[in-house]
This record gives sequence, structure tokens and C-alpha cells, in this order.
Amino acid sequence: MKKITALDLLGKKADSEKIVMVTAYDYAMARIVDAAGVDMVLVGDSLGMVIQGQPDTLSVTLDDMAYHGRCVARGLESAHLTVDLPFMSYQVSPEQALQSAGRLVQEGSAQSVKLEGGERSAPAISRIVEAGIPVVGHIGLTPQSVNQLGGFKVQGRGDHGADQLMRDALAVQEAGAFSVVLEMVPAELAQEVSRALHIPTIGIGAGVGCDGQVLVCNDLLGFNLGFKPRFLKRYAELESTMVEAVSEFAKEVRTGTFPTDEHSFHRKGGPRKVSKIY
Ligand code: KIV
Repeated sequence: MKKITALDLLGKKADSEKIVMVTAYDYAMARIVDAAGVDMVLVGDSLGMVIQGQPDTLSVTLDDMAYHGRCVARGLESAHLTVDLPFMSYQVSPEQALQSAGRLVQEGSAQSVKLEGGERSAPAISRIVEAGIPVVGHIGLTPQSVNQLGGFKVQGRGDHGADQLMRDALAVQEAGAFSVVLEMVPAELAQEVSRALHIPTIGIGAGVGCDGQVLVCNDLLGFNLGFKPRFLKRYAELESTMVEAVSEFAKEVRTGTFPTDEHSFHRKGGPRKVSKIY
């Protein structure tokens, strides 16, 4: 099956077709989301929180991203694979950004890379795009700046913030990104930005006016019941289902009702006569 390309995704905006993106961090989940027909799979640095149990994304390394990228790539047939550039892998200089992006392509099987920041990240985006690697921007709430932003908060609520967000979106587009994630921005502003850009916007907590939507797969599947931001809709309650299944296994092991004969192997010719004591 043909892999979806950055050009196909740009074409979806021109055709007013919504883009569906979800995160995945391993082979098993990649197979599931690809079979569900999503357009884009993001190996997000959210894996720091979702997979590694960290309080934020700041400790995730380029090696972590390349490793998870490779695992996910093996499970995808058609979905486009974007891999996040983690904190401090692109902020030092455009040359550093290009080298990191190159590693995600060569070692992480990325078709495109995503990085955070608007105007300030434009030189890094241009350098990566010039080398032939497609880039997804990420503005609004940028989790790698959580300490500067003072928490995981909605961005661009006031006029000043809204003007800055629009400048950031235009800078990302001008630098050559083929799409941009808008995270936690007011729906009206996200719609205004989406109308102003020719590249697709992909929203998370940014309302229905974006050209596509992204959610973290574990969140939408109900794996992480403690995490309940306003923007999240759960489409399943898998954590409860899995706890029930493992409890049932534990009960059956303890009561000797698993394994049954159906789950056991037998020797040819029935039980062996034991003539010797070892
Ligand atoms: O890291 C991530 O999963 C992300 C998405 C939430 C857009 O950046």
C-alpha cells in the first residue's frame, strides 16, 4: 500500500478534507491505528509522560525518539509517520536542528519531523526543509516550554497573545513547514489562523475550525483515566477493561482454573511410567 506523503496532506486542505492524526509509540499500537485508517501517526515526545511516566516531555532524548520511531514504522502500511524533535535537539542552531532531523529520518524511519515554536524556530524549519525533510510546526501551547509558560495552559486568549500566535503561524508557513499543530488555543483564533494559512492546521484543544485533529492514542482509548483535560473525548475505556482481564487471569491462576486441558500439551502415548527416582 502507498504511504501518505506530505504533498498528499497538503492536497487534503486544498480539497477541504479533514486530516486525522493520532500518536503511537510502539509496533502494536501502530498496527491498530493504521488499520483504523488514520492519515498521520505522530511519535510524539509525549511518550515521556505516556510511556516513561515523567511529569513532562523535557527529559526525552533523540535516541528515545529514534527507537520509538523505528518500532512504530514497522507497524504502518499507509499512514504518514511524523516523529517529534525532542527538547534541546534543535534549539541550539539550525545546523543542530538539521542533524537531529536527519537522525530521525535515518534511524527513526520518519517521513517528516515536528518541532515546537513559531517565529523563533523559523530558521531551524527552513534549514531542515532546504535539506529535503518535510516539517510540521507546533505552536500555541508548546509543552517543551512548560516552565516558561507556567504550566499547561490555553495560549492566545488576549489580543497580544492572539497577534503573536498569528505571527508564529505565518512564520512557520513561510519557513516551509507543510502543516502546523495548534495546541490549546481558543477555537475562534484557531479558525482565523486556519483560514489565513494555505498549509493545514491540526488542532488539539483548538476547536473544530482546524483542518485536522490530533489526540494522544492512549488518551482517546481511555488508558490513562487520571488525565481529563477539557479537550479530550474518550472513545473507549480500555484501562478498566484491561484491569478486569488481568484480575480474571490472576483469579483463575490462584484457583487452579487456568490453564485447562485446552491450553495444555500432552506427550505421545499418554503418561510416562516412572521407573527410576532421580
Ligand atoms: O507530543 C505529542 O504527542 C504532541 C501532540 C499532542 C500534538 O505534540
